[in-house]
Amino acid sequence: MQRITVSEAKLGMKSARSIYNADGRLLLAEGVPFNDYYIKRLNEIGLPALYIQSPLSADVKVPQLVQEETRIMVTQLVQKSFDGLRAGKRVDLDQFKEMAKSIVDEVIQNRHTMIHLNDIRIHDDYTFGHCVNTCILATLTGVWMDYNEKELYELSLGALLHDTGKALIHKDILNKRGQLNPKEMTEMQRHPEYGFDILRRYSQELSMLVVHVAYQHHEKCDGKGYPRGLAREEIHEYARITSIADVYDALTSDRSYRSAMLPHEAYEIMQAGSGTQFDTEILKIFLQQIAVYPVGAFVELNNGEIGVVIQVNRNMPTRPKVRIVMNVAKQFCSPESNQEQDLHENLTCFVSKVLSRAEVAKLEKRFALQGFTAELQEQSG
Ligand SMILES: [Fe+2]
Ligand SMILES: [Fe+2]
Repeated sequence: MQRITVSEAKLGMKSARSIYNADGRLLLAEGVPFNDYYIKRLNEIGLPALYIQSPLSADVKVPQLVQEETRIMVTQLVQKSFDGLRAGKRVDLDQFKEMAKSIVDEVIQNRHTMIHLNDIRIHDDYTFGHCVNTCILATLTGVWMDYNEKELYELSLGALLHDTGKALIHKDILNKRGQLNPKEMTEMQRHPEYGFDILRRYSQELSMLVVHVAYQHHEKCDGKGYPRGLAREEIHEYARITSIADVYDALTSDRSYRSAMLPHEAYEIMQAGSGTQFDTEILKIFLQQIAVYPVGAFVELNNGEIGVVIQVNRNMPTRPKVRIVMNVAKQFCSPESNQEQDLHENLTCFVSKVLSRAEVAKLEKRFALQGFTAELQEQSG
């Protein structure tokens, strides 16, 4: 699986994931080859990136914490509630509660799955998918903090509703392509207060802890956050968890002003905020769930081999199992040859570099030029 920009989409490439539009309608099913019409549609809907099946790793399946169907349903609910709030309607909290329960159930079930890739979002829809992803990441952190079901459910609901106040931010500011000016930034930074004001009207149906996640998720442990400059234990634990999930999701998502960071880059940035921006202990637990070199990533090893990650190791996240696609002599190895390096066992070997998208594309081109598959077929025939 390889992430490319829409402008890099070519005839015959196959999508590695089903692609849906903002209404949740299927645009392109997994495995269907691109034709002129699909490429035109992908450009029209403004999708920032997509996953394609790489000929070098077509058999590698990326694990997911929550099923795609659940993600879509929840994303649609968040979008519907934002539209409703803008039109002065009430939030249907029963539906949110139901969805938070589903996420908690799925995350508990898949608790051993590490955090892999984000969903792909259309720029203007960033906020909706972001709320869902933040919720999933926060819930997983809660699971590994040994929260009971009631706590997990409160945390999940709070994280899902954390950016509710953004419904009151003008769409021109919310979806602006480019950096905000100081006036716009001040308005944007009011969304925790807006969210608090909206959600506290539901105090009969909603725990105030949930409401405070929306109010406090931009506070920082060193007291330099907003809106109130709260520090450390003054910030509720649910909000401290949500703030970590929120920033990680933002860093690893494509934004209008920059492309998504790779997990190992985001990992470093998060680590740098330990104790100042983020709670040290919670951050430690969160970072243990990140697949630093996720399944499907192409890596170069210190011995010169290039491979694709096929399995991550929870106890040693920097030592995954890698299937070699190019050997030391710079010759391609067929997937069938099953040449693997388990870095957990071979301790003299380590990842020296993660290949960029451009480098993987180059590799695929060479692979295609060599007509490796055809050659193999000829040999076996
Ligand atoms: Fe926020
Ligand atoms: Fe957020």
